[in-house]
Amino acid sequence: MKMVEDLKRKPLFILAVILLLSSAQAGNTNRTSWHQCADFQTANFLHGSKLNVQFLLFTSSNPSCGELILADDGIEDTSFNSSLETKIIIHGFRALGTKPSWIEGLVRAILHTSHVNVIAVDWVHGSTGAYHSAVDNVTQLALSISHFISKLLALGVSGTSIHIIGVSLGAHVAGLVGHFHGGQLGRITGLDPAGPKYTRASLEERLDPGDALFVEAIHTDADNFGIRIPVGHIDYFVNGGKDQPGCPRFISAGLLEQAGVSMRRLPKEVIVYLMTSPSAPFCVHHSLVEFRLQKKRNVVTSIEITFYSNSTKDTAKITIPQQEEVGKRLLAHKVPLCEINIVMLKYLPNNRFWRKDESHIVGKFCAAPLPLNKNRTMFCLPWNITLYGNMDLSYQLSAACA
Ligand SMILES: *[C@@H]1O[C@H](CO)[C@@H](O)[C@H](O)[C@H]1NC(C)=O
Ligand SMILES: *[C@@H]1O[C@H](CO)[C@@H](O)[C@H](O)[C@H]1NC(C)=O
Ligand SMILES: *[C@@H]1O[C@H](CO)[C@@H](O)[C@H](O)[C@H]1NC(C)=O
Ligand SMILES: *[C@@H]1O[C@H](CO)[C@@H](O)[C@H](O)[C@H]1NC(C)=O
Ligand SMILES: *[C@@H]1O[C@H](CO)[C@@H](O)[C@H](O)[C@H]1NC(C)=O
Ligand SMILES: *[C@@H]1O[C@H](CO)[C@@H](O)[C@H](O)[C@H]1NC(C)=O
Repeated sequence: MKMVEDLKRKPLFILAVILLLSSAQAGNTNRTSWHQCADFQTANFLHGSKLNVQFLLFTSSNPSCGELILADDGIEDTSFNSSLETKIIIHGFRALGTKPSWIEGLVRAILHTSHVNVIAVDWVHGSTGAYHSAVDNVTQLALSISHFISKLLALGVSGTSIHIIGVSLGAHVAGLVGHFHGGQLGRITGLDPAGPKYTRASLEERLDPGDALFVEAIHTDADNFGIRIPVGHIDYFVNGGKDQPGCPRFISAGLLEQAGVSMRRLPKEVIVYLMTSPSAPFCVHHSLVEFRLQKKRNVVTSIEITFYSNSTKDTAKITIPQQEEVGKRLLAHKVPLCEINIVMLKYLPNNRFWRKDESHIVGKFCAAPLPLNKNRTMFCLPWNITLYGNMDLSYQLSAACA
């Protein structure tokens, strides 16, 4: 499919912040006055050679006032709540050594919709000057963030409750941090992962699906400074299309909710093109499709899923890792799920020269439109479907339109 190449893209933050701030609030009343609000530093690039990393905590009770968490001091003395999820924001290259203008909006947008700890990482000092020197500082920065996260973990924070949001160069920093934690942190969102110096980098150096249990990336700038290759379990390539009435506002739900994707290792590199057609109005709907094997297998299992409506056909491949029961995948389809009337399943055996795969598999298939509704309703075919190698099996899928 050729779609994004020649389309204009909107700057990312307009998307991320505007969508998230759909009902922005003023929220500027200062209830607590027992500490001073801490802010980002400003680096003069002539002497901005120290990293001087700062961790600023923002909470729902005071979304516009940062609390400085000192590296060696107790986090216990701050408003950090270890039973909540934690979102860590990492900015990218700052040519002029100034605070990123979008930070406040993003922090407020997150706190407006979720009750979480938000930590903004200020590495303005190390990110200024020349791009390559910012890149040179990335490892040291990642080590200091990892160290900080280790302290959170020591407080009893669970690794899966940590979500790192990295912007541009910060996306690769997030990848490194995740790598240092053995890929066991909950989630990394890369917003326009930087391209320069990273497109050909090794997986250790750049953001990749091994860096967290769930890695997603949103690309809006793949023709300029953004990376052109997929780096996550799910990569959204957003073009300049406008929001269409009736289309799910998927980015905001993808960004803040878990989108129903569970905290398990997912098959690598799913690419999702949002609003991929240049001929508006035309948007894509997304469903989570899932196949649960009756018994685990010693080999990877691949199942092709095709959704048919009266006039459309959309396909995705579910991959179930060996020794796992369940495979999940996003399927992008052109009409709402309720207009899909047939689902076709095809088991793709992994036949090798020296070894034949099983002739059939048995399991259960379910699908759900995204974002999931509160009920998390999935539409399932009856249990114990038997799929024979390379044979299509069609079922009627009758999901009611809301
Ligand atoms: C809120 O903070 C500002 C600036 O620190 C201060 O001037 C103002 O008096 C405070 N308002 C209240 C209600 O405490
Ligand atoms: C931390 O968050 C939990 C869950 O919302 C809440 O029950 C608890 O009271 C909070 N703790 C503090 C100290 O605010
Ligand atoms: C950041 O990188 C620049 C360029 O390599 C270097 O001069 C500077 O010392 C580095 N900063 C730190 C804190 O390592
Ligand atoms: C699909 O075709 C059937 C049979 O022609 C028709 O009853 C149904 O309304 C069509 N559905 C849509 C969504 O157009
Ligand atoms: C959720 O489930 C309840 C009870 O089963 C049902 O009444 C309600 O309509 C469902 N809501 C949605 C959005 O599916
Ligand atoms: C499907 O398989 C499960 C597990 O083997 C079994 O317990 C169940 O009875 C089967 N269901 C049907 C409807 O055959």
